[in-house]
Amino acid sequence: MSTAAAAAPRALVYDAPGEPLEVLSLRELPALTAPGPGQVQLRFLLSPINPSDINTVQGKYPLMPQLPGGVPGHEGLAEVTAVGPQVTGLSVGDWVVPLKSAQGTWRTAGTFPAELWHVVPRDIGLAAAATIVINPPSALAMLENFVSLQPGDTVAQNGATSVVGEAVIQIAHSRGIKTINIIRDRPDMDATVARLKALGADLVTTEERLTEDLKASGLPAPKLGLNCVGGNAAQAVTRTLADGGTLVTYGGMALQPVTAGVAAMIFKDISFRGFWLSGRWAQSQGLQGRRAAMDSIVEMYRSGVLTPPRLAPFPLATAADPEAWRRAFEKVAAAHRGAKVVFDMTGGAAGVPEA
Ligand SMILES: NC(=O)c1ccc[n+]([C@@H]2O[C@H](COP(=O)([O-])OP(=O)(O)OC[C@H]3O[C@@H](n4cnc5c(N)ncnc54)[C@H](OP(=O)(O)O)[C@@H]3O)[C@@H](O)[C@H]2O)c1
Repeated sequence: MSTAAAAAPRALVYDAPGEPLEVLSLRELPALTAPGPGQVQLRFLLSPINPSDINTVQGKYPLMPQLPGGVPGHEGLAEVTAVGPQVTGLSVGDWVVPLKSAQGTWRTAGTFPAELWHVVPRDIGLAAAATIVINPPSALAMLENFVSLQPGDTVAQNGATSVVGEAVIQIAHSRGIKTINIIRDRPDMDATVARLKALGADLVTTEERLTEDLKASGLPAPKLGLNCVGGNAAQAVTRTLADGGTLVTYGGMALQPVTAGVAAMIFKDISFRGFWLSGRWAQSQGLQGRRAAMDSIVEMYRSGVLTPPRLAPFPLATAADPEAWRRAFEKVAAAHRGAKVVFDMTGGAAGVPEA
């Protein structure tokens, strides 16, 4: 056991679903008391804004905090500041991340059940640790759980500039699996293509150039397609697939439905599947499985298979801008942002490298 964190915590809080800038407010929470049996007290360092967090605040995600007075945030990196009686495996000073969604990471400090937090080693660095819970494990699970992929096989994906997409590229590359990466047209196209190729991408193209670039690449038709966009971008991935291939949908960034084309189903027997890390996958794995997945991602960072995503840090508030958290949502809404927006609760002390 050790001392409790001193200052009253603050958090972004909402009482009813809606658009984040309309329903969230920065509020002071009751001062923390010493953690009880099985509890830990945490000081948050960095908490990402992921697409699922936005959906949660909007009331469109199945896992959400209790309202009114809910604190969003499914992912985040915190430091243990105090441990209660009967807590094993966590010590003051450890870096920890959540093993369960909807615990509310958009806050400066809080008290939580110790069993729902997992230690991550400091040597992987802040950016990797703060983003280790959701996106890299999703990439790994989708590459391993749907189709048996061998070196030389090919995977196609859209949304390849996302943190999931970049993890797919890197993990696949480390296993000798080729990737076809479809991205949106953008002003910094050459730099983006170069960045993804440096991560190991074999082909980076747009929906418009896909047919031509694919033909020129000579890559074999993919057994697995990954879709986080929907609409035409999903059809573009489906079009590339080999006979008997599988399209896995795990996101819907374009807010458009996925059309399962009749020709794709009849002539190529394409399977259309879905993936949800925090739902079916988490249930099938249990807490131990989630710990194991994160530990294998840690090893991927240590061995250089993965490089950390670029971050765009924003404070919750500053003396000059008490509503600084609003700027974070403006950045999230920007196209081609090329970095994961995170709330930096350290007042800049963590020294997060900006993208
Ligand atoms: N099912 C699951 O268990 C699971 C787990 C993790 C993530 N996800 C989903 O995976 C997706 C990516 O998550 P992330 O955190 O890796 O994303 P991220 O790093 O925040 O990146 C967002 C990606 O979406 C693209 N995008 C945004 N709006 C778009 C639009 N209107 N049309 C086409 N592309 C658009 C962006 O492209 P630009 O670079 O061109 O802006 C970027 O590639 C999200 O849909 C998320 O909900 C699902």
